[in-house]
Amino acid sequence: MGELKTYVEKISTDFYLLRVDDKQTKYFEALWSIPEGVTYNAYLLLGDRNILFDSWKHTYANRFIECLRQIVDPRDIDYIVIHHMEQDHSGAIPKILTLNGGRAKVLGHSLARGMFESFYDMKTEFKPVRDGDTLAINGKTIRFIHTPWVHWPETIMSYIEEDSILLSGDVFGSFSTPPVIYDSDEEKVSGYLKFARKYFVTVVGHYSKHVLRAIEKLHKLGIAPQIIAPAHGLIFRSNPQLIIDYYMRLAKNVPIRGKVVVVYDSMYGSVEKGISVAINELRKKGIKPIVYSFTDIQHIDLGSILSEIIDAEALIIGASTYEGDIFPKIRYFLEVLAEKVRAGKKVLIVSSYGWGGVAGSKISEKLSKAGFKVVSRVEFRGTPREEDLAKIKEGISLLFNVSTYAGGGSKENH
Ligand code: FEO
Repeated sequence: MGELKTYVEKISTDFYLLRVDDKQTKYFEALWSIPEGVTYNAYLLLGDRNILFDSWKHTYANRFIECLRQIVDPRDIDYIVIHHMEQDHSGAIPKILTLNGGRAKVLGHSLARGMFESFYDMKTEFKPVRDGDTLAINGKTIRFIHTPWVHWPETIMSYIEEDSILLSGDVFGSFSTPPVIYDSDEEKVSGYLKFARKYFVTVVGHYSKHVLRAIEKLHKLGIAPQIIAPAHGLIFRSNPQLIIDYYMRLAKNVPIRGKVVVVYDSMYGSVEKGISVAINELRKKGIKPIVYSFTDIQHIDLGSILSEIIDAEALIIGASTYEGDIFPKIRYFLEVLAEKVRAGKKVLIVSSYGWGGVAGSKISEKLSKAGFKVVSRVEFRGTPREEDLAKIKEGISLLFNVSTYAGGGSKENH
């Protein structure tokens, strides 16, 4: 394990970032594989009164205190703002409060009080903030904005009006541990967005509608921040609108034209044979699909698959019938897909069975119920015959009723 990387950085005269790069967590929320790591960002506003905004995951509580002490004695913290109770941000707060002697007022959504007490078995000097409440402090105005369900019901943001700094919590955040703290390098930001996309779909994708509502609310309030300080990843100050627009595009489910994702299992090669024909047919149309497979030589984590599907135009799902149901890995993938991605994408289903076909119809039912548009379902017993392959080709035409698709798709064969 490498040395733990932390940042204590002055963002403006009195505003600081405290960031830790977590490369130890293999599965975020014990669920999403993150070889790219994740950061936890807390912030501190100093003055006559000292305000801490959030903290880090409990694993790093001691290190958080060490970093905090480089700027301020924990006993001198007057307010702690909780934007979001998930423990990747609230985890070090109990330790801070203990060192603080319990004198700091804890500010947050009214729901956060009960969550805090039940998560940490600890009472606090808690003061709920209502939507639109302001705190005049150190010659500045901090406005609290309720943004429920991004990511949990108690989520709020803070806006430091005089400095135009928006502390946005999970929203506008990302996975990965970039070697810089700002968005100043366009090339780095461009590489970073794929982690933002993966973070979006896995963590807040289920709440896309609420993400849009939050962005609209900021707009209606006339908040066009010069600095976006999220709880994960880069701080945006060169081009804050970029991350707002990117989140909006993902939340609106705007597809990249011609982007196709293929996800299939193949136990002994029958499904794969049908899928290969579908892929060839796409290539003839100038489309390079992104392909993920569950076979006897590889399995792929769902976060990576979902992060490509979120902005795809169409999907091809291939699955075997397994014990009277859909192949388990595909079954689970479909459940998560329906929860995380807003529907509307077109789907072609390719399915194989040995003695009783079940998977094809079940996939069709599940996806249609979730609002996807199943354009065709091709099921065959054992290996696909010529007539099955012809139906697959027809299915591709139904997905894309144009002869060529210049510039569509991207990399393939994951
Ligand atoms: Fe980064 Fe929902 O916590």
